[in-house]
Amino acid sequence: METQNILYTALKHSHSGLRWILLILLILSIFKAFSKRKGGSVYPGKDSLFLATFIVTHVQFLIGIILYVFLSPYVSFEGGMGNIMGDSVIRFFTVEHIVGMFLAVILITMGHVRAKKQAELNKGWKTVGVYYLLGLLLILISIPWPFRGLGTGWF
Ligand code: HEM
Repeated sequence: METQNILYTALKHSHSGLRWILLILLILSIFKAFSKRKGGSVYPGKDSLFLATFIVTHVQFLIGIILYVFLSPYVSFEGGMGNIMGDSVIRFFTVEHIVGMFLAVILITMGHVRAKKQAELNKGWKTVGVYYLLGLLLILISIPWPFRGLGTGWF
């Protein structure tokens, strides 16, 4: 039991803190993509900033899955739909957060994979920029910010 508590606290704080790294990386990537979209180059696919953003997105996703499946007391399927939908915190973490973040991860993954295949000048940059921007917006909407009254903090 004690080990599980330590793991929960560690992963919860990693997941919470990593949000800031991911947000900064996404913003930097989007700026870079849009500034390069008329520069006459091909999106290299191996660009370290974009790769870092892609990797941090997936690490965040993995930590989220572990919290969701094994550790978080805010994820619950007990009492059926009525119970889940009736409690705003349980509903947020059991349904809204995972759906929003899952779609965001798909968008970021698709952006990276599609852009890598586009050999035309400029095109890949625009693709990755647009997909990452959509992913960022979804992430911003799906984060349990402290002002949403879900009992979460800034870090
Ligand atoms: C990929 C982008 C994601 C971001 C930026 C993100 C961000 C966050 C943040 C900021 C919290 C609040 C932590 C706190 O202060 O207590 C949180 C909680 C949580 N997240 Fe995510 N998350 C992401 C993806 C996911 C995914 C994909 C899942 C599930 C599969 C998930 C599951 C959870 C759970 C279960 C909690 C509640 C933890 C608890 O307090 O018990 N997250 N997330």
